Amino acid sequence: MSDSLVSSFPALSSMTALWRARYGTQPPAAPALPESPVARGLMTHRSVRGFSASALPDGVLEAAVAAAQSASTSSNLQGWSVIAVRDADRRARLAKIAGDQDFIAQAPLFLAWVADLSRLDHVGQAHGRDLPGVDCLDTFLAAVMDTAFAAQNAAAAFESYGLGIVYVGAVRNRPEAIAAELGLPARTVALFGMSVGYPDRQRPTAIKPRLPQHAVLHAERYDSAAANDPAVIAAYDERLRAARTAQGSPGRSWSESVLARLGDVSALHGRERLPEALRGLGFVLGQA
Ligand SMILES: Cc1cc2nc3c(=O)[nH]c(=O)nc-3n(C[C@H](O)[C@H](O)[C@H](O)COP(=O)(O)O)c2cc1C
Repeated sequence: MSDSLVSSFPALSSMTALWRARYGTQPPAAPALPESPVARGLMTHRSVRGFSASALPDGVLEAAVAAAQSASTSSNLQGWSVIAVRDADRRARLAKIAGDQDFIAQAPLFLAWVADLSRLDHVGQAHGRDLPGVDCLDTFLAAVMDTAFAAQNAAAAFESYGLGIVYVGAVRNRPEAIAAELGLPARTVALFGMSVGYPDRQRPTAIKPRLPQHAVLHAERYDSAAANDPAVIAAYDERLRAARTAQGSPGRSWSESVLARLGDVSALHGRERLPEALRGLGFVLGQA
């Protein structure tokens, strides 16, 4: 088994094998990586875009949402909601809206992760109070962060049951259309979706290489030279290109992807107008 195709079952892969698959290097000799089943599970992650039709076992969604609700949350505001979409017709419509991504229709479950300030508004109304703090940009950011932490806890929980997931940022291509399809109230926005299901074993997915750890982990103070070392980036470019080619994807380097994604805002497929869309959905974003 090649490094990048280490088993998708964490129990079958060592910390060392997972490190090698992620970074293409041996882990540091000392200190050794302390064994952790949770860390192994997280390091086993790969996005899945080919799903079998099998439904999720009963109770898995509820366990994953309990994991999501167990995440830390800014000031315990819990400014998020999640919408579970199982209906095949609705998933097909969502697939169209979210960049024509077929796996959304294929996977038995689609979760829309929603930053939700509307519930906080209702608390104010129930007490006859205006809550100007809801309009502050920081409150919106807190809701965005809380939604992401919750979703990632759920993702880890799903993966621990042998399920595969892929996030779907393309719901932000057309936020108003998603809001209409899901019946979202004012001051809520679907930040991203998540398709969930059993991976199609005919289409195995590999662990995707990441930047070397020393490019992102700084000691005490930010180290620009380490973060942007051209030789390190060039080596990662080639590693990622090879990994993509091996998966049958266009053999693009990381730098080429960055340029393609951010070199022209049209590559954001509508997300470049997000501030306008958010205001239309009732968010004030600090401009009270
Ligand atoms: C917020 C977010 C949105 C994403 N949106 C999409 C998407 O719309 N379509 C897709 O195929 N992958 C999407 N992804 C998956 C990323 O492409 C993927 O995580 C990244 O390439 C790293 O690959 P890996 O998850 O297999 O390690 C998204 C990931 C995140 C975190």
